[in-house]
Amino acid sequence: MLRRNNYILAIETSCDDTAASVLKDRKVLSNCIADQNLIHKAYGGIVPELASRAHQSKIIPVVSQALNEANIDKKELTAIAYTQGPGLLGSLLVGSSFAKSLSIALGLPLIPINHMQGHLLVHFIEDKNIKVPVFPFLGVTLSGGHTQIVIVKRYFEMELIGTTLDDAIGEAFDKCGKQLGLDYPAGEQIDKLAQNGDPMRFDFPITKLKNYDVSYSGIKTAFTNFLKKQKDSTFITKNLNDLCASLQYSLVQIILNKIQKAAKDYNIKQVVIGGGVAANSEIRIQLKNKAKSEGWEVFLPPQHLTTDNAAMIGIASYFKIQKNNYGNISDSSMSRLKI
Ligand code: KG4
Ligand code: ZN
Repeated sequence: MLRRNNYILAIETSCDDTAASVLKDRKVLSNCIADQNLIHKAYGGIVPELASRAHQSKIIPVVSQALNEANIDKKELTAIAYTQGPGLLGSLLVGSSFAKSLSIALGLPLIPINHMQGHLLVHFIEDKNIKVPVFPFLGVTLSGGHTQIVIVKRYFEMELIGTTLDDAIGEAFDKCGKQLGLDYPAGEQIDKLAQNGDPMRFDFPITKLKNYDVSYSGIKTAFTNFLKKQKDSTFITKNLNDLCASLQYSLVQIILNKIQKAAKDYNIKQVVIGGGVAANSEIRIQLKNKAKSEGWEVFLPPQHLTTDNAAMIGIASYFKIQKNNYGNISDSSMSRLKI
């Protein structure tokens, strides 16, 4: 039997990016994002109430843009996918309510997706620049809210073996960046400033936990105390590049050690990373080097698919559609979802 193509509209509003994407099966036809950086910058972090309100005002324009860029009329869509969680409750509610309403209005199946699974399944998008991994592989999600190591057995069969006990890696980048006077989110700026810095100039503690869990609050506190101890008021400006490079080096080493240990213990030959911090140039270089020396293969997402986007929700939903695994409008378990 000849199968009809799927035209999926995916919506992602878990945090501070309002995103919509249209996919034709595994191919991305459009991927639109309205970020809220200007809104939250003044507060040095995300203000949940403001994030929800911004999603409210941006969701219709972003969805319209995604349909226009894909050159698709909403009547041609065959499914609606949305981020069910984890994330900020008010932000999730905007996307899920919109997706549910549209699915009722158009009479289309509705597919709830776990945000963290989306970050990893982005590697299954059909694109000549993306190499598709083979199951089972080690999945590592590195974002502003999560740091997780999972064994990915199948698309939605992910066993969590390690997680952060406190702050996420992206959160550590952002909070330490704030101490340096950088705007939120600071990860990308630290990455850029570190390019011209010496990673060995300052020593920050690399926490060592026994299993595959990580902790990032210790290094954040050590970094803050180190800056407070400096008597010279121009210390940060004079040493900004070296501070960024040294901090970034230590933040990356913490997770790198765990990835190496997990790949070895589980005898896994493919390591797949996802999430905003997967854009970081240091982690990308270090992982490539480790892959060579340890004999595994590393899968790095293209830069534009690292930070939050709706294409990752769309691709994850494609695999649920293959299994006729749909949600319904009474799904309500939004904020407590884990991988
Ligand atoms: O996945 P994401 O867009 O949102 C969450 O799900 O949390 O990740 C956002 C995080 C922020 O903490 C941001 O500072 C960080 O990703 N980030 C980076 C870089 N680009 C974004 N961190 C380090 N280096 C980067 N180049
Ligand atoms: Zn994310």
